[in-house]
Amino acid sequence: RILILDFGSQVTQLIARRVRESGVYCEIWPFTANEERIRSFAPRGIILSGGPASVHDEGAPTIPDVVFALNVPVLGICYGQQAMCNQLGGKVEGSDHREFGRAFVEITEDCALFRGAWARGGREQVWMSHGDRVTKLPPGFRAVATSEGAPFAVIADEGRRMYGVQFHPEVVHTPHGAALLKNFTHNVAGCTGTWTMARFRDVEIEKIRQQVGDKRVICGLSGGVDSSVAAVLIHQAIGDQLTCIFVDHGMLRAGEAEEVVKTFRGQFNIKLIHRDASDMFLSALEGVTDPEIKRKTIGRLFIEVFEEEAAKIGGAEFLAQGTLYPDVIESVSFTGGPSVTIKSHHNVGGLPERMNMKLVEPLRELFKDEVRDLGRELDIPESIVGRHPFPGPGLAIRIPSDSITREKLDLLRKVDSIYLEEIRNAGLYDAIWQAFAVLLPVRTVGVMGDGRTYDQAVALRAVTSTDGMTADVYPFDMGFLNRVASRIVNEVRGINRVTYDITSKPPGTIEWE
Ligand code: XMP
Repeated sequence: RILILDFGSQVTQLIARRVRESGVYCEIWPFTANEERIRSFAPRGIILSGGPASVHDEGAPTIPDVVFALNVPVLGICYGQQAMCNQLGGKVEGSDHREFGRAFVEITEDCALFRGAWARGGREQVWMSHGDRVTKLPPGFRAVATSEGAPFAVIADEGRRMYGVQFHPEVVHTPHGAALLKNFTHNVAGCTGTWTMARFRDVEIEKIRQQVGDKRVICGLSGGVDSSVAAVLIHQAIGDQLTCIFVDHGMLRAGEAEEVVKTFRGQFNIKLIHRDASDMFLSALEGVTDPEIKRKTIGRLFIEVFEEEAAKIGGAEFLAQGTLYPDVIESVSFTGGPSVTIKSHHNVGGLPERMNMKLVEPLRELFKDEVRDLGRELDIPESIVGRHPFPGPGLAIRIPSDSITREKLDLLRKVDSIYLEEIRNAGLYDAIWQAFAVLLPVRTVGVMGDGRTYDQAVALRAVTSTDGMTADVYPFDMGFLNRVASRIVNEVRGINRVTYDITSKPPGTIEWE
């Protein structure tokens, strides 16, 4: 396995993604991780990420000595390369020639990192993002590729198996960067690339059995990808020692609650408690129009109902959660300033402490797309595994600045279904991170046949994203949007206007509330 030491780059997670895609297990730790911990992880190779600092800054992050003492291959990326050179006797300088964005490197020498991929004498497109650059190599190193802005674009000390690259091989803008990382992990560090989801499943099932023994586990099921995969995996490990609790707040999309019940009871034979709590949620939300109050009301009730159901079952020692790797990576932050709450996210984060239960979190080491692969490995239907993310508070936050009623929810569900059906028919579902309709608290005048209408308007939203942190609007063609708009207005009574939301995130957020 490979250890990635994080120096605060925005794209450190992408290094891990590329390494795992090549079948090698890796973890991301902050550069401050202590020596003992690094030694006991026993990495076959270490990758040093980029980062926003300059090695000349006061208190600039440094590479722990143990990295060099372990005698394993090291690859420094951007800041990682500069820090390595600085600490090993080379020189790093600020330069007027900042390189940011696309650049080309000339491959001047052979090197183990290039094997079978980057040919000597060739030119490769790379993604640069740096102010400082290495100006003198440490003893033992030689330059094997250069660029206009960085004479030492790729450096190597093959005796000590240390390498450095000034650009970012992990991003898609370095089209052949993955090959370079794979050469490092496979050829240089000697990893075999046998880490697959089938293997992960088998190992994890064994771990769950070890951890749980003959005790009982409860799991909150939402119908989303993460909790579904966690539940099926745990069920394969411990069978009927698992009970799932599905708190149905009545604000799911059309047909979703039924599908959850059918899949988990019918296909997987999992013990499932389906608690229809829609009356309770809707009456608590009566007249509530403020987004934060909506979110907090739903979050509070969810916990209450869950606890009630768990108490009825009684005697479970473990609580299962679909926590993912991005939630547990210890991040390196150089700003440390206060951050504002944009939205109070609804999840069951507060549950374990309140309920005084031990946690089973079998997905803690996985990225979202790996969870999807694992779900496929477990034969979970594509309609669940490939499903767009859906917020915990459900459709309540897609009826903005308005109170929630069954009628409005029904209206929104009809619009949403037509929109998603058209997206699927056009073969666009998987190209989009998330698509949904929003019911606007606005009535507008229209004309249908010979008559006047005075009905509600909806907005459609579709975005692309890799992690939900930033998002771009999906560029539908007008023909598609016209078709959807005409179906919605014709088929859903009560809606006479359709708009398309063209705001990216930032400054917008994905959901409207
Ligand atoms: P925003 O609207 O903040 O959403 O840009 C980013 C992503 O998070 C989802 N989202 C939630 N997910 N509980 C969740 O589990 C929530 O309370 C919640 N609110 C938003 C949103 O759908 C998008 O994918």
